[in-house]
Amino acid sequence: QKNRFDYQSVRFISMNDKHLGAMKVSLTPLDSAATFTIESGVDSSVTNKGVLTEGRKKHFFITEIAKAGNNIYASVRTFQHSVLIGIGYNLSVSKGNKKFNITTPVFKIKLKKGETVIFTKTFSIYTSRRISPRYLKRTVIDAVRRNKRKGFERLLEASSDTWNKRWAMTDITIKGDEDIERVLRFNIYHMLICAPEREGTVSIGARTLSGEGYRGHIFWDTEIFILPFFVYTFPRIAKNLLLYRYNRLDAARKNAKTRGYKGALFPWESADSGMDVTPTWAKDFDGSIIEISTMEEEQHISADIAYAVCQYYDVTQDIDFFIYYGTEILFETAKFWVSRMEFNRKTKLYEIRGVIGPDEFHESVNNNAYTNMMAEWNLFRAYSAYTMLKAKKGAFLKKLLRKIKLKESEIRKWRRIAQHIKFPYSSKRKLIEAFDGYFKLKNVPIRALDKNFMPLFPPHITPRNVGETQLVKQADVVMLLYLLTGKFSLNEKKRNYSYYEKRTLHKSSLSICTHSIIASETGHKEKAFLYFFNSLMTDLNNTHGNTAEGIHAASLGGTWQAVINGFAGMRIKKETLHFDPNLPRRWQEICFKMHWRKHILRITVFQNKIQIFYGDKRTKDVIFVKAFGVLEQLKPNISNEFYKGDEKK
Ligand code: BGC
Repeated sequence: QKNRFDYQSVRFISMNDKHLGAMKVSLTPLDSAATFTIESGVDSSVTNKGVLTEGRKKHFFITEIAKAGNNIYASVRTFQHSVLIGIGYNLSVSKGNKKFNITTPVFKIKLKKGETVIFTKTFSIYTSRRISPRYLKRTVIDAVRRNKRKGFERLLEASSDTWNKRWAMTDITIKGDEDIERVLRFNIYHMLICAPEREGTVSIGARTLSGEGYRGHIFWDTEIFILPFFVYTFPRIAKNLLLYRYNRLDAARKNAKTRGYKGALFPWESADSGMDVTPTWAKDFDGSIIEISTMEEEQHISADIAYAVCQYYDVTQDIDFFIYYGTEILFETAKFWVSRMEFNRKTKLYEIRGVIGPDEFHESVNNNAYTNMMAEWNLFRAYSAYTMLKAKKGAFLKKLLRKIKLKESEIRKWRRIAQHIKFPYSSKRKLIEAFDGYFKLKNVPIRALDKNFMPLFPPHITPRNVGETQLVKQADVVMLLYLLTGKFSLNEKKRNYSYYEKRTLHKSSLSICTHSIIASETGHKEKAFLYFFNSLMTDLNNTHGNTAEGIHAASLGGTWQAVINGFAGMRIKKETLHFDPNLPRRWQEICFKMHWRKHILRITVFQNKIQIFYGDKRTKDVIFVKAFGVLEQLKPNISNEFYKGDEKK
């Protein structure tokens, strides 16, 4: 005897209103009458992963469970920060022409053969972080009632409308590779759902909201890997991410002070308070528990955040943000670097000793090229922000300097200091030296690859002794070639990429996306595609074996950059947009949109041609673009075309 049922369900968290979720389930017994037991309530048994030895952790206790008319309300309070969370729902049932609400946690329902029941549940959730505890319950219940009145279809429609707007700006179409186009949407989707809509209260953790890896902590992954996606597609969200840092400048100042430095040192891992929450113990690749010193030593994050501030400003020209928020971050980070440096009397150079660069295989190194050069860049940009403020906003500058206790005489030294920061470089090899003494380390060739053609640890090399070798964990010098693109010639990029790529084990998801970009730029077409593809598939293939802990946020954004900055070859150099495309061979064209200054550019990149469209009949603004090496002034409201070499027919 058959016992079949028809079960259909639609459920969503609204993109239009993040406080709202809804589901609709329909159920029909197909072969005979049946009785169903339905459980519906608020599951308060949720626990979260604690640090290493803590096991599962309960973060809250129940403060109230109540009926409010036809709705249910529950609230819980978190142990640590005493945040009150209120959740309310309405569950309505429709069976034939009968409609009723259910407020008990369990109930039974009898259905005849072929009879359909439809459950519609909408829930609303708010916390005392936004709503005063006194009004929390009322806010939640009002929202539940409002949403119930609107009805499931209208709520879904509102969410879809917002999605459509998001996709209209972010979708990338690829002619010639529809499979990749689809997976790319998976990546973009995951960035869009973790985007903070509210100003400056939260940021994006290294595993987004999809898992508990790193316990939600925020790293440089956000500013260097994800933020560019938002800068070019939804600058408003990029600004929220930067405000999250701005609002935690006090904690960063405290962090610098407790370590004996001036200015602001942003924490390597950040959460709500902005203090450093990096654990001191962690699990290594082989599962063993090791002591880690990233909290003390991985300080490039301060320059990375300053870099993100400038990238946002360079693209959007949001001058108000730059003046009233950005400059303070730039000044405080510059001040930090100056206090962090040591002057070497012999060489007459400033040094930064005892750090970890992006390559975490080597700890306590001196003069990590990435850190030093980003610090140098930080000082130059802070200095130029100072001259800009001095010329345009003298009164504000004075106020700011008073607030952060910074003297103009100090600032005037920044440029000279920046010019004398040690840049580890071997003129014999014509290579950047990752850090002092790097070239003296054992050179161990990588021979074995895994099934995705990604390197494996060579025999006898373990996480314990890898620091004695030239093997690096992830893009470090290669990262520098990318971020400070104008600083290096193409030949320098080629030489350094070739050297370091051979020694990189890519044991971080931040690595292959960056390698893909520089591989594109330096003409390694096949490698560029291989790295891009693996980066794209990071979580769908679970290549790091830890996707259960959440989506790798940096790789989402890094993959996007591998397309836009890698294949489409987009860079900003001296305030001008550049394109030097290197499309994979089978791609005929890619099409995407991006913000640039006050406009949205629609860009189509072909193998040997680029089309750029912006503005309308009334547009007056002039945009300069350099593509395939030719600088041109774009015209609004027409398709501006650039050709590679003499391709134009
Ligand atoms: C990487 C860091 C990264 C962190 C979080 C580490 O394994 O080395 O660069 O910020 O993971 O994704």
